[in-house]
Amino acid sequence: MNLGILRETIAGERRVAVVPATVPMLAKAGFAVFLEQGAGVSAGFPDEAFVAAGATVATRGDVLKRADHLLAVRLPSDPRAPHAEIAALARSGRTLFGLAEPLSGSSRLRELAATGVTAFAIELLPRITRAQSMDVLSSQATIAGYKAVLLAAAQLDRMMPMMMTAAGTLAATRVLVLGAGVAGLQALATAKRLGAVTSGYDIRAAAAEQVKSVGAKFVDLGLEASGEGSGGYAKAMDEAFYGEQRSRLGAVAAEHEVVITTAAVPGRPAPKLLTAEAVRAMPLGSIVVDLAAERGGNCELTKPGESVEVDGRRVIGPIDLASTVPHHASLMYARNLAAFLTLFAKAGTPALVGGDADPVADEILRDTLLCRDGALASPTVRARLGTSSASLVETLPVSAKGVLT
Ligand code: NAI
Repeated sequence: MNLGILRETIAGERRVAVVPATVPMLAKAGFAVFLEQGAGVSAGFPDEAFVAAGATVATRGDVLKRADHLLAVRLPSDPRAPHAEIAALARSGRTLFGLAEPLSGSSRLRELAATGVTAFAIELLPRITRAQSMDVLSSQATIAGYKAVLLAAAQLDRMMPMMMTAAGTLAATRVLVLGAGVAGLQALATAKRLGAVTSGYDIRAAAAEQVKSVGAKFVDLGLEASGEGSGGYAKAMDEAFYGEQRSRLGAVAAEHEVVITTAAVPGRPAPKLLTAEAVRAMPLGSIVVDLAAERGGNCELTKPGESVEVDGRRVIGPIDLASTVPHHASLMYARNLAAFLTLFAKAGTPALVGGDADPVADEILRDTLLCRDGALASPTVRARLGTSSASLVETLPVSAKGVLT
């Protein structure tokens, strides 16, 4: 099977979905790798390294001509991708693998499905032990959590560690992390390494032990509610709960010079945890880094992709942070995807992975299968789009080219 990897087309995306080290892993699984020339350069991987590893480097047109399947960081269902990519990349008989923004609610998902392509949305991986080596959400969140602390440190008007010098004693910076999932725990660990005094908070009670295991204090807001949802994720709470949470968190944030927010609920806008008033109550010079900026933000003042100053405090709303550390982000992403493709190859033809009706299908492949045979296969995605029927081609108008009109 020929596996094509193209240069990413979304502006600012510097990662690549294959690295030289994963070329032999893919070969072992039965894939010959065809890479668009220069596709790895922005992540620090030159064409020669891919050729030495056994890949074929070719023009974009050649890769598209020869590829049975395509592996990408961002699939064309991502609303930020050039629209023409759907028609250029997707066709019946081909399989696409990558991040598809399956819960974005975008009409692009329907358009992709209508081409007849098979696509796997890697974000939909079940959080089970067997899938850990493929878990791109975790690997990329690890990088985002690390980088968030560096962004805060670089903007801060003070140093992170406590220092006793001949010029006096400097107090350590106090860092609060809201949402102690993968990114939050990495942020806590990174801030600790830089010498900060760290505290973490999460709605899930199980997070308390994990916060303590990275040397941070767990903030107990005294709110009696279980925020534990399914699959290890948080569940959405009602507005009364969030209101109370915001009011109590405001008092906690006022005691910190850095707040990093990471709270997310799958398929929902990010919960608002920090009010404008809470930011203004933080010490002058304080920094908020909102890792939920892409999902609407955890802070009322967040502007996605921007850094805003409010009365001497700064709120940074980075997007695509993992892409700003493209070398390591690509190494991890490519390994995750090589593990996924190995499973895919072992399972045989895509037809074997089944849709809703196939009880023997592999759980990992079944959960991540976004579309196949002109239909949206994922019930989660269909529910998000408000479509109960799997078959789009039957229920929606399709143009002569197979693209929804
Ligand atoms: P996420 O990115 O969906 O959310 C980040 C954090 O925000 C979560 O810890 C969540 O509980 C928290 N949160 C949501 N609403 C909140 C609110 N109102 N206030 C405070 N915090 C709030 O989560 P992520 O990082 O993807 O991890 C979710 C869980 O899955 C974690 O327990 C993680 O350890 C677990 N996990 C399990 C894996 C496995 O078993 N294979 C692999 C990766 C993660």
